[in-house]
Amino acid sequence: MQSRLSNETAKPFAYTACLPAHVTSLAVVAALQLASAACSSSNAGPGPSGVDASVVDANSVDAQPAPSSDAAGADTAISQEAGGQGDAEADSGTYVESVLTLDLFLESTQVDSGAPVADAGGDADDGDAAVAAPTVTTLTITARDGSLPVVTDLWLYTLDGQGNMTPLAGFTSTQPRKSPRRMLPATIAGTPSGLTPADDGSENGTMTCSCGSRGTLDQGAFVSGVTGTVTVTLPSAPTTPILVVAAVEDERYAGAAVINPDGSPGSVPAGVGTPETHTWVSFSRDVAPVLKVACIACHTGEDPTSTAGAGVGPGYNANFYYVTGTADDLVNANFAINEQTLACQMTNPDGGLSLAQCIQSITEAQFLVEPGAPAASDLLQRSRPDEDAGTSPQGLLWYGSRGARYNTKYGDRRMPSTTLSTSPDAGAWDNLPCYFDANPAQFQLLFDWVAQGAISN
Ligand code: HEC
Repeated sequence: MQSRLSNETAKPFAYTACLPAHVTSLAVVAALQLASAACSSSNAGPGPSGVDASVVDANSVDAQPAPSSDAAGADTAISQEAGGQGDAEADSGTYVESVLTLDLFLESTQVDSGAPVADAGGDADDGDAAVAAPTVTTLTITARDGSLPVVTDLWLYTLDGQGNMTPLAGFTSTQPRKSPRRMLPATIAGTPSGLTPADDGSENGTMTCSCGSRGTLDQGAFVSGVTGTVTVTLPSAPTTPILVVAAVEDERYAGAAVINPDGSPGSVPAGVGTPETHTWVSFSRDVAPVLKVACIACHTGEDPTSTAGAGVGPGYNANFYYVTGTADDLVNANFAINEQTLACQMTNPDGGLSLAQCIQSITEAQFLVEPGAPAASDLLQRSRPDEDAGTSPQGLLWYGSRGARYNTKYGDRRMPSTTLSTSPDAGAWDNLPCYFDANPAQFQLLFDWVAQGAISN
């Protein structure tokens, strides 16, 4: 039990009021918020695993291990590496992205809705019209750096005969992003944001993370949940090749792969998925000063279990979340422990063994930053500049779990909070622009630092 309390709760416990000069009061309701629920529930999309499926597509070209239980020889899989060179270190201050390996795996399954199906057995090859049940096609994608599975962003397209790319939208995914669009807004208050890679309106993105958490705790020990894999249920069986472009937001990697409707490998259009050159962002030089100006006033990290003061009630304490000025805290401090430890303390006010056992049984692990994946990083989700100061529909998706900037339970979901209202009524909140709406170039620095792997440098 000591080990589980180690890094996070060993911080000095000294209450620090959370009120920056520009905020007169934080009107938040004093009730326990398990922020994990608020911030990751929208990510927890159910997979297609609940359906009773039988395999009907029998075009086997490969012995790649199937990602789900299914009939032998009934699947198709390819593995290919995208073009371009690897991670040649360039001159000082710049570097070239490494090439990812992408495995694509196309599978058609016949969904048995429970109703009697006329032709359930027999010939599985042709999926002919006598079969009444609908067919569902899934595409399973795994991204690896060598043999290492990685968390990264993926973008789906269909290809026509000329190699023209059309964004493929309308799919569901086992690892949905908060929004299937690119994270950075293209415009802010009607003028170009200057941010890149910006939202182009396409809703064709997914990720290879269990977004919101990179793993779980088992008796205090961290167990990685990173598989590098996502399964996408396509809106319909493909009739054209599907192109997957990886790591558009991720600045560590590049890669792309194509799978044909029959499951065979296709060719990636020239110039797609090739490594880019980036300028290194330094945490100490570029990022820490921004956090100091915009975040640290509240997120001191000094008393993660404080239940008092400044209108910030239990569970609303910004000190749960260590935006303290070190990269290590952002990447490695498991803030779910802080939240759940407080929950344990409230249900076990007498402490002792029952409290220790409660804490020992915490399984959640959540972190503010997912290296390489800005769109899966709470830190950036909550502080994203908005097309329209927090009121645009596509921006709202990023801040909380319910598509609203404010709610009476949690207060302002955008960071840093700029509300001047003392009313808990959502309608009374000021809808003021946030820091990064006015300073998008600084958000780009944060974004790039996370996208580059959130290195402490
Ligand atoms: C005015 C005080 C204040 C400032 C300034 C502030 N925060 Fe917060 N922050 C809070 C409070 C209070 C909470 C807890 C309530 C909630 O989740 O909204 C919080 C919660 C968060 C969370 C939620 C973690 C989770 O998953 O539940 C993130 C991420 C966050 N802040 C990031 C930032 C960033 C990044 C900045 C700087 C751009 C910032 N905050 C500036 C007060 C502040």
